[in-house]
Amino acid sequence: MAQHDLFELFCNDPKVQASLSDLLGHLERYQSQLVDSPSVPGISETQYKRELTDLAENRGGNLFFPYISSGLGSGSKVALRNGKVMTDLIGGIGVNFSHAHPEVVRDALLAAMEDSVMQGNLQHNHKSAQLIQRLCELSGLDHAFLSTSGAMAAENGLKIAFQKHAPSTRVLAFSNCFMGRTLGLAQVTDKPLYRVGLPPTISVDYIPFYDASCHKESIARSVKALREHISRFPGQHAVFCMELVQGEGGFYPGHRDFFLALIAEAKAAGMAILVDEIQTFGRLTSMFAFHHFKLSDVVDIVTIGKMAHVCGTLFKAEYKPNPGLISQTFTSSSVAIASSLRLLALLETGGFYGTNGKIAKLHRAFKMGLEALHKKYPKSITGPFGIGSMIAVTVFEGNKDHSLALLHTLFDKGIMAFLTGGSPTRLRFLLPIGGMTPSDIPDIMAILEAAIIETAADKKVRLC
Ligand SMILES: Cc1ncc(COP(=O)(O)O)c(C=O)c1O
Repeated sequence: MAQHDLFELFCNDPKVQASLSDLLGHLERYQSQLVDSPSVPGISETQYKRELTDLAENRGGNLFFPYISSGLGSGSKVALRNGKVMTDLIGGIGVNFSHAHPEVVRDALLAAMEDSVMQGNLQHNHKSAQLIQRLCELSGLDHAFLSTSGAMAAENGLKIAFQKHAPSTRVLAFSNCFMGRTLGLAQVTDKPLYRVGLPPTISVDYIPFYDASCHKESIARSVKALREHISRFPGQHAVFCMELVQGEGGFYPGHRDFFLALIAEAKAAGMAILVDEIQTFGRLTSMFAFHHFKLSDVVDIVTIGKMAHVCGTLFKAEYKPNPGLISQTFTSSSVAIASSLRLLALLETGGFYGTNGKIAKLHRAFKMGLEALHKKYPKSITGPFGIGSMIAVTVFEGNKDHSLALLHTLFDKGIMAFLTGGSPTRLRFLLPIGGMTPSDIPDIMAILEAAIIETAADKKVRLC
């Protein structure tokens, strides 16, 4: 019996491997032009502006940044169509591990030669089966169901929980949470703006998130709120949805004691515990945030997305849904599935995790840089906040307009970050953990400092 199928034999064929190495070598030569260079060849500014306007017009909404990538990137660097080289510290809001990582590109090239561009629930390719198995092994959960977006993974998670706990139909979630923007999830996401004009679909009750400044009181306050909701709607809650580190809500990490206290009460009331790891996946000092907070025994359903490259709903055996409840045409593209599998291997073997892993080291170095800026400009920059490769700072006392102005000044100076939270607004970074090292950080801090000084002058606010 052969050990490999014919496609594997093709992939391992020395001629194919040599062609790939040749191609990757060419790519590397082009990528090397991005190192230490603020610009590379690109289209004219006039043409670039036209493309930006057309893109905004055609998609029916303004662009947040004047950003269209050329497609050439490496590590934290991306070359825009106009040749401007950006340092990308937001990575599509947490999608990027590293731009065009050579090992991911190699597997993606092979996957582009698979028989189908998109894979589906009716027909899985071998790598899809491998990915599902790896996700189960790495998470310790029994099942993994792939899907094409975080929102779809979350919808599937909710459906699984509702079916198991039928006829309960209510949901518990944390204040300021973000879970997605479908008709269902827009009700869970705690942002009134995102549900303007939408019909109510799911009834949601909110619990205050953890406040690290008053550990015991915060736990007591949230447990009290939970009990009130449970006694107001006895037996009606099917699921408690939780982000363990609030992403869009301001980069607030929770605490194990806090989660355990709430989970004990929620479980006693017969609810499923659904952990939303769509933004946190891969980014803390463990691959899964629920491992980081040591919650494996009490978590029932976990959703992943973003940096995992393929989204998925992972769940325990007792939550296995009835046939027909969850399915969709696409699971993901063959390229995304192969990239995800390679990414998991890189994360697992690349020394990223643990208290002295790459993520912890990046966090410490980035935090030190931000603390140094805080010492110099205590009024303009406070924090930092966050955990792992999710780091935020409050700038100009959380004023939204001034924070936005700083963000755009940073963009002009070649750094991409983003905002988070409402009040206060914070500047957030989702570091490309596979494409940067602590030695990159001093240059980044120098640019951030220059941007703060410039924005303070423009907005006429005090620096110190
Ligand atoms: C915590 C969290 N949950 C769910 C989602 C929805 O994921 P997607 O945008 O892929 O639908 C996001 C997206 O930002 C998120 O941050």
